[in-house]
Amino acid sequence: MHAGHPEHLRHPRRRPLTGPDAGFLKRVLAHPTFILPRDFSLFLVSARTDAAIERTRAKFGARAAFEEAYTRSRDPWRSAAPRYRYQQLKYEQIMALLPARRFQRVLDLGCGLGLLSQRLAQRSDAVLGLDVAAAAVGHARERAAGIANLSFEQADILDLPASLDAAFDLVVVADTLYYLSPLGDDLLKTLSARLARLLAPGGVLLLANHFFFSADPDSRLTRRIHDAFTWSPHLSATGHHRRSFFLATLLEPRDAGLAHAAL
Ligand SMILES: C[S@@+](CC[C@H](N)C(=O)[O-])C[C@H]1O[C@@H](n2cnc3c(N)ncnc32)[C@H](O)[C@@H]1O
Repeated sequence: MHAGHPEHLRHPRRRPLTGPDAGFLKRVLAHPTFILPRDFSLFLVSARTDAAIERTRAKFGARAAFEEAYTRSRDPWRSAAPRYRYQQLKYEQIMALLPARRFQRVLDLGCGLGLLSQRLAQRSDAVLGLDVAAAAVGHARERAAGIANLSFEQADILDLPASLDAAFDLVVVADTLYYLSPLGDDLLKTLSARLARLLAPGGVLLLANHFFFSADPDSRLTRRIHDAFTWSPHLSATGHHRRSFFLATLLEPRDAGLAHAAL
């Protein structure tokens, strides 16, 4: 094809959008809630990261597995990669689900690179991000340099210090709980009681976990986690939300006395 021909004639499959539908299609593709087809490859990248974590965990334990994931890649789940929209959209949707108020002390458990923590810091006086991987904490600190009300520390969700009890009016746990293994009913009961204990009176706990088609094993695990927290005697669910591709549940402490006596 002659080089002087218009672009769509040289590359017939790249025809420009024209005609009555073109404006509509362009608007749909540009809309921030539209996940691009390439986002589906993000789920494949994430599945490869998870498989590598599983292999390392079997040999060296969970903490080593997450440390290795963040050492091998500065962004193991491509959460900050501009070519994918899904994670940014997830953070925006989580922020939109929160009660419309300013928070005093916020805890982001399993904060990873701290991208959600940074958004939370815009609506809070102080945010603490905790992650089991010291390498993740290092990356999160670098990314958040200069944000005065945001700090990160290494900590395991399964071994949180008592000094955090009743300290937060918002606790967020996004795409983290399903990595705890083995995640049986007893651990879920213990966890829901432990996380309830982190909340100050009137505080809110937001859980978000990936959810695809209801019947696949990952989505079933997510459902089990959200059900266990919903039925916890220490928490009361105030909202259930399904988004592409995650479930979110908002909970409040049911009875401060009960939750604090539990563990
Ligand atoms: C898929 S990433 C999600 C990161 C972040 N919440 C987000 O939504 O972008 C899961 C994170 O959970 C952390 N994690 C896994 N097990 C943990 C544990 N027992 N305690 C604290 N963090 C943990 C991992 O290191 C990883 O950073």
